[in-house]
Amino acid sequence: MAPQLHSLLPVMLCILTAGILVIQPASGNNMDPHVFPSHGPFFEGWYMRVIDSHRNASYGFLFALILPARGENLTMEMKSSLLFNVPKSHDNAPLLCASLLVNSPEDRKLGSPTGCFDPSDYSVLKDGKPVEHNPDDKTPPFEVKLANNISYIVTPTGTQFSVSIGDHRLEGETTSPVPWGPGGEGPESWLEHLPLPIHWFVYSFRSTVTTYSYTNEATGSVVKGGSVAGRPPVVAHLEKNWGDKFIEAWVWAEGVNTATDVYFSFSSGLIKELNFDIPAQLSGYRNPAKGFDCSFHPANSEHTLLHDGCAGTATLDVRSIECHVTIHLHAAPESFSSCLVTPQPDGFRLGCLESYTAVANVTATKILSGDKDHQIIPLSALEFGGLYMCNGKCPDV
Ligand SMILES: *[C@@H]1O[C@H](CO)[C@@H](O)[C@H](O)[C@H]1NC(C)=O
Ligand SMILES: *[C@@H]1O[C@H](CO)[C@@H](O)[C@H](O)[C@H]1NC(C)=O
Ligand SMILES: *[C@@H]1O[C@H](CO)[C@@H](O)[C@H](O)[C@H]1NC(C)=O
Ligand SMILES: *[C@@H]1O[C@H](CO)[C@@H](O)[C@H](O)[C@H]1NC(C)=O
Repeated sequence: MAPQLHSLLPVMLCILTAGILVIQPASGNNMDPHVFPSHGPFFEGWYMRVIDSHRNASYGFLFALILPARGENLTMEMKSSLLFNVPKSHDNAPLLCASLLVNSPEDRKLGSPTGCFDPSDYSVLKDGKPVEHNPDDKTPPFEVKLANNISYIVTPTGTQFSVSIGDHRLEGETTSPVPWGPGGEGPESWLEHLPLPIHWFVYSFRSTVTTYSYTNEATGSVVKGGSVAGRPPVVAHLEKNWGDKFIEAWVWAEGVNTATDVYFSFSSGLIKELNFDIPAQLSGYRNPAKGFDCSFHPANSEHTLLHDGCAGTATLDVRSIECHVTIHLHAAPESFSSCLVTPQPDGFRLGCLESYTAVANVTATKILSGDKDHQIIPLSALEFGGLYMCNGKCPDV
């Protein structure tokens, strides 16, 4: 991290804080789909991860649609019909891709079967209609469909998912979300109203997964799981990203200890703004049993991020007037996936690596009372992206 840039952030925040006075205070539940602008770049994508501590397994998926920077304009006709007849970008980077993330008990490395699709097969419906308004603070049901490959239905009482990529299929359902904050508040808090280049919204820290199954048609293997009474639940983390840029360097992590009901999530990296690389982070740590409810964003906290993509380690240290939290993560280098596709202004490019078997070691302090908390969270997800990958690039391209 370039320390001199740290001093820039307060200046920016002053400017930004002045801006808050003229914007609506109401939060939106940003899990809901956004309206695509008429010009790119813009993208929107969802991510979900199931954590099954009963069998040390974890399964996730992600998908996104990109409206590229140099495409034709979306016509009104396109917008009012199925919305997503997005033109191909010039050098054919795909605009709509989905990955499954597979860490079955016997797997040492996170698998990442990926497929890219024709955007005309994609539909996002809110209340049964194309998306006409940006999210408000409720979550009306919405539904994403992609050919016969993805069905993702999110309602206030639960989420149903079915994702098929090549020979792999993941499906299941969860109960209602455990949100970041009240009234649709997410990691960005009121910063969500600023014209940030990229947004990150955690919809649920740990929804209970009632049932799920992972099938590999090629090998015939089937894993079935779900929550049962008297044992720690199988849980799912659900989130969304959207915006007109992607961060150029980042660490993202998320974990739930299902036995102790302690959980965290963070995203930290460099955001290019006004030609500066600004170190930024958004993070949350919760331990309901001990009353820890710590949320950090650039306007309420200071942070440092240490990272070593080659060693598979990252440490976020972040402090507000209420909490001081240090999250240290380590994942075996061989546990990381091959390079995953990430949204870029012109389409999907390979750009990050992820592990589902990181161990998080969290130390948290309440500043006022001095109360301390130490927690170990196994089966955490850890991702190194862009310049923060080992040697700043994908190992396998
Ligand atoms: C899960 O992995 C941990 C750490 O490797 C191990 O201690 C535990 O016994 C495993 N549990 C199961 C159900 O395999
Ligand atoms: C896209 O829209 C802009 C403004 O609405 C217009 O100036 C431009 O010519 C359009 N481009 C194409 C390829 O239609
Ligand atoms: C879509 O699903 C079918 C099976 O339902 C599968 O054969 C196909 O490979 C999938 N498409 C992609 C791009 O993964
Ligand atoms: C977790 O971190 C604390 C303080 O940094 C350290 O004392 C402890 O040994 C660590 N525990 C594990 C299991 O790594």
